[in-house]
Order: sequence, then C-alpha cells, then structure tokens
Amino acid sequence: IKRVTTHQLQEMKNRGEKISMLTAYDFSMARILDQAGIDVLLVGDSASNVMAGNETTLPITLDQMIYHAQGVVRAISRAFVVVDLPFGSYQGNSTQALKSAIRIMKESGAHSVKLEGGSEIQESIVRILSAGVPVMGHLGLTPQSIYKFGTYTVRAREEAEADKLISDAKLLEETGCYAIVLEKIPSKLAKRVAETVNIPIIGIGAGPHVDGQVLVTHDMLGITQEFQPRFLRQYTDMSQIMTEAVQGYIKDVKAKDFPSDKESY
Ligand code: KIV
Ligand code: NA
Repeated sequence: IKRVTTHQLQEMKNRGEKISMLTAYDFSMARILDQAGIDVLLVGDSASNVMAGNETTLPITLDQMIYHAQGVVRAISRAFVVVDLPFGSYQGNSTQALKSAIRIMKESGAHSVKLEGGSEIQESIVRILSAGVPVMGHLGLTPQSIYKFGTYTVRAREEAEADKLISDAKLLEETGCYAIVLEKIPSKLAKRVAETVNIPIIGIGAGPHVDGQVLVTHDMLGITQEFQPRFLRQYTDMSQIMTEAVQGYIKDVKAKDFPSDKESY
C-alpha cells in the first residue's frame, strides 16, 4: 500500500478529492482506522478528554502524547500520522517548540506535528519547519485557549476575529504549513479561507466547503457520551453495542454458562 504524504494531500485538494481524517490514541483503534482506509490519523490532545477524562486538553503532557503516538505509529501501514503539540510545549518559546517537536518525531516515529494558533506562534513554526518537520496549523476554536474564550461556542462570527483568522491562515501558508485545521467557525468563512489559501483546509464544524473533514473517532462511533454538538455525525452507537456485549458476558458468567467445555483446557 502506498503511504499518504503531504504531497498527496496537496494533490487531493488540487483535484477536489476530500481528505478524510480521524483521531487515534492507541494501537488497536489506529489499526482499524488505517485498514479502513483513513487518509490522516491525528493523535490529538483531545486524548486528554477522551482517554484521561480531563475536562480540557490543557493537562496532557508531552510524554503522554508521545506514548499515545507510539501505539498509533506501530499500527499504521498507510495513513499519515499527525501529533498535537500539547499545551505548554511550544507557546511563546521557539527553542522549546523545536525540542518538543523533535522529541515527538524521534520517540514516536510520527510524520508531522500540529500547533494551535497564528501569528503568535509563527516563530515556533519557523523553527520546527527548519528541522524538516511538516507542520499542520489549527485556527478557529483552539481548545488550548479555552479559558481565553470562556466557552466552546462557534468562533469568528465577528468581523475582527474573522479578519484575523483569514490573515493567520495566509500567514501559516506563507510560513510553510502544509495544511490547516479549522475548528467550529461559520461555513461561509471556512469557504473563504479554503478559496484564499492553496494548502488543504481540514474542517471540524466548519461546513462542507473545505478540503477535508476531521472528527474525534470516539464521538463519531458513539463511544463518547453526553457530547452531541451540531457538527457531529454519529455513525454507530458503540456505547449501546458494547453495553449489550458486556451485559451478555456478565449474564453468562453469573449463569455458569461461560466458559464451556469447548472454551476450557
Ligand atoms: O485534538 C483533537 O482532537 C483535534 C481535532 C478536533 C482537530 O485537534
Ligand atoms: Na487538538
């Protein structure tokens, strides 16, 4: 199987083929997603919420991100693997940013890193790119800044924030990012960004007029409970399926039906 590269992602945008991206935090799940044919796997810092049960993405550490990334990289044979630089590992310090990115690349074998923000982190992006590490940008709702925003509602509805987002997208492209995630912004604004910059724009809650889509795997599989934002399409109800399987197991154990002779040595 041919591996996905940044070059291929650009070609997909150029010919109008949408890019598919999902999160993965472990070997078993990543293997299923890779074999299903996903283009890009994101070892997102959403692992802080989904894997560790934190309320925000802020607590997850660089060591923990590397641990998640290692399992994902061992599982894949085709997908392009992107790892989030966690909160506190790159903001406002380009030397630290470069060190964090190099640790991720070296210790996990991932293919790229993702950073949240625009002009504020340009210097960090430049340093990481100078080491030959492809950088994915992330604009709009950037969860590492949740305490600045105050809520997880749609961003860039106001003109000033929309203008800053467009200029940040251009800046990220000029700086050398190969793609940008746009999270939870009006569809019209996302369309404008995707038409303005030449690199692929991957949306989550950013409407259909972008070059690809990303979702948190546990949300689209229905494993996550109590998270039903408007942008989420739930493809199955894994909570229900798993609950029924586990209840079947409990019942069989209690009834002394499991294990049978055939399942014993
Ligand atoms: O961490 C994450 O899951 C993300 C996606 C929502 C883009 O950054
Ligand atoms: Na993230």
